[in-house]
Amino acid sequence: MILVTGSAGFIGANFVLDWLAQHDETVVGLDKLTYAGNLESLASLKDDPRHIFVRGDIGDAELVGQLLKQHRPRAVINFAAESHVDRSIHGPEDFIQTNIVGTFHLLESVRAYWSGMTGEGVIQDNFRFLHVSTDEVYGSLAKGDPAFSETRRYEPNSPYSASKAASDHLVRAYHHTYGLPVLTTNCSNNYGPCQFPEKLIPLMIVNALAGKPLPVYGDGQQIRDWLYVKDHCSAIRCVLEKGHLGEVYNIGGWNEKANLDIVHTICALLDELRPRADDKFYREQIAFVADRPGHDRRYAIDARKVERELGWKPAETFETGIRKTVQWYLDNQGWVDNVQSGSYRQWVEKNYAGRG
Ligand code: NAD
Ligand code: DAU
Repeated sequence: MILVTGSAGFIGANFVLDWLAQHDETVVGLDKLTYAGNLESLASLKDDPRHIFVRGDIGDAELVGQLLKQHRPRAVINFAAESHVDRSIHGPEDFIQTNIVGTFHLLESVRAYWSGMTGEGVIQDNFRFLHVSTDEVYGSLAKGDPAFSETRRYEPNSPYSASKAASDHLVRAYHHTYGLPVLTTNCSNNYGPCQFPEKLIPLMIVNALAGKPLPVYGDGQQIRDWLYVKDHCSAIRCVLEKGHLGEVYNIGGWNEKANLDIVHTICALLDELRPRADDKFYREQIAFVADRPGHDRRYAIDARKVERELGWKPAETFETGIRKTVQWYLDNQGWVDNVQSGSYRQWVEKNYAGRG
């Protein structure tokens, strides 16, 4: 049994689906179902007895304590977070609340659970708390700078990355001070199925198909390092099984790309797979807009530690992953309509009122 927080979000849902495809071990998913949480991503597990879903907040000590006591997981994997940089610029409070205060309460609940295992030797020794974090904690690189290694100084620049940095420090401190068996992963930009269409890649696909402008911030020459979400999930499974306690692992696929190149790639794929009715090119919808305040120029992950020490390697290249992703959005217009519609929110409130 494992407990996965943020299990209805983009990476959390992909992780749960992959886990149950590969292991016969039950998953308890805990998710607050904010705007970013979408149970439709887990619809294929509706009748799977190995999947238990609970709506709730990682900061709800009573609920989390009760879940830990009842299900006795051998691992907790913490994906739950506010994750969008632009939202953190417009309103940082939820980021402080979930990413810092929420993680603190979760750590306290887990520490109480883990301490209470004393005397149950084997289970306590095997328990793991894996914290999923981001490369954004390291700040911004200039052209030619070496990629982020695990020893890179933290220099977070947005309220989002500052809140994730704080959570990483808390996780580290719980290991150092209390001996809590933790692992931390810092990953680069993910893309793939079920990503909420506010992030660059799904937003561009969805806007292109809807005939809307494709808003490129500033000059579009900012660089991100892209990893297909299923490769992030396989890296987390690998760190969970083989990682050394207290260690940090940077996860990335050596795929640095400028934003404008990404948008051009998506446009070209759509021209091929779903040509515009008016025979024009999707790239004609590109619109350069005001830059993001404090916009980090470049991220790049040095993934040699996880590759060398744990033997992890990504399965997808950017070319194969982006084609699959564009095709997924073409095939799942219903999913997009649902996450963007108020009716899904009404359904959540009707079925999961009172928690979260
Ligand atoms: P997401 O926004 O798609 O999903 C986050 C999930 O957490 C949602 O389902 C939401 O409902 C849930 N949640 C939010 N607050 C909660 C709370 N207080 N209690 C319980 N659940 C709560 O995010 P994502 O892209 O899937 O990211 C997952 C994790 O991975 C985050 O911690 C993020 O910082 C990290 N990460 C993301 C990326 C990326 O490119 N998306 C890269 C590296 C690391
Ligand atoms: O690096 C890991 C991080 O990647 C994760 O920790 C975050 O949770 C995740 O959201 C992502 O952060 P970014 O800010 O890099 O992702 P986003 O998709 O918002 O933006 C990617 C790049 O594209 C960034 O340089 C801003 C730019 N952009 C984004 C949007 C939404 C645009 O030019 N136009 C847009 O409309």
